[in-house]
Amino acid sequence: MERIDPGKIPMYSLPDGEKIPMIGMGTFGNDRFTPEQVSSAVKGAALAGYRFFDCAAAYQNEAQIGEALKEAMEEGGIARKELFISSKVWNDMHGRGDVLIAAAKTLKDLQIDHLDGYMVHWPFPNYHPPGCARDYRNPASRPFIIEEFMETWEQMERLVDAGLVRYIGVSNMTLPKLKAILPLCRIRPVFNEVEMHPGFQQPELYEFCRENQILPIGFCPLGSPTRPDRDKLPDDVSVMDMPAVKRIAQAHGVHPALVCIKWAVQRGHMPIPFSVYEAEYTSNLRAVTEDPLTPQEMQELKDADTGRRIIKAQNFLWPGASGWEDLWDLDGTISKNGWNS
Ligand SMILES: NC(=O)c1ccc[n+]([C@@H]2O[C@H](COP(=O)([O-])OP(=O)(O)OC[C@H]3O[C@@H](n4cnc5c(N)ncnc54)[C@H](OP(=O)(O)O)[C@@H]3O)[C@@H](O)[C@H]2O)c1
Repeated sequence: MERIDPGKIPMYSLPDGEKIPMIGMGTFGNDRFTPEQVSSAVKGAALAGYRFFDCAAAYQNEAQIGEALKEAMEEGGIARKELFISSKVWNDMHGRGDVLIAAAKTLKDLQIDHLDGYMVHWPFPNYHPPGCARDYRNPASRPFIIEEFMETWEQMERLVDAGLVRYIGVSNMTLPKLKAILPLCRIRPVFNEVEMHPGFQQPELYEFCRENQILPIGFCPLGSPTRPDRDKLPDDVSVMDMPAVKRIAQAHGVHPALVCIKWAVQRGHMPIPFSVYEAEYTSNLRAVTEDPLTPQEMQELKDADTGRRIIKAQNFLWPGASGWEDLWDLDGTISKNGWNS
């Protein structure tokens, strides 16, 4: 197996000076890969040189990943403190009490005594069962309610106070929601994990996060070709087929996936590509250590932004909402469209 020197991986400084790698390994099996396939890749990735792992209770594989990371630490002589293990509280565990229970289960499953990162997976408690169909709707779903979110966030802060979590973050936060919560946070989020790739660059959210010392973590960094069917629509952008991505890939003699990864790291957000294949996850990691994109190529990719989101997340819609756009505050205000109307 190829091993990449973690010392060659670009690093990001958290607000307190702690350094973390600018690339992580995704662990969502996309409803297609078994927990064993994903955890075997996680072990291989740790041995290959990955140090950041993006886990979540909702991915239903933390117990297998915990075992895989333990084996990788033993076999690879990797110290726990070299790893940055991050997870997320799922939507059915928001609120007082439940966040602490969710974190305890994740710690037990991952076989660790603290998490390096812990995020609120979605900003509302809207639950859908794993593997559900595209048209599944939960009648208990509701829009973002700031008081409710802050109750959950206070529990996240308590986890930091208790020494069970080192850094907390948010995920799927739009700009209006992020601006609304920040003044209310006793401990500010250091991450916002959102969809980001050359086809959906979210420039305003990106700039705001960086100005506020929040690292954007880009999920679906390759456009998630293996995403669940519920997240596929016929006119979705196919990121690795974008002409600019393909042209630059050809110029560098690499797969378009590697262009997406280099672009993210050079721009300044952390990609968390997923793959169960050793050749893919090692080449993804190696890509950030060699042969950078030129300023002209970075500009070409910036200009290629389609502004089109792949993960619409319509399963989280509440009764009366008009469409997936309501989840994403497209008019710049926090949408409550249809709720209680
Ligand atoms: N916070 C959230 O709400 C949220 C939402 C979605 C995802 N995430 C996180 O983000 C991670 C990444 O997103 P994702 O898994 O949906 O999508 P992704 O990383 O954009 O795409 C993954 C797919 O890309 C292909 N691939 C990977 N490396 C490649 C390479 N070097 N060459 C060619 N193809 C390559 C693989 O497909 P093949 O198997 O066909 O090769 C793989 O299944 C997830 O695993 C999860 O940790 C978070």
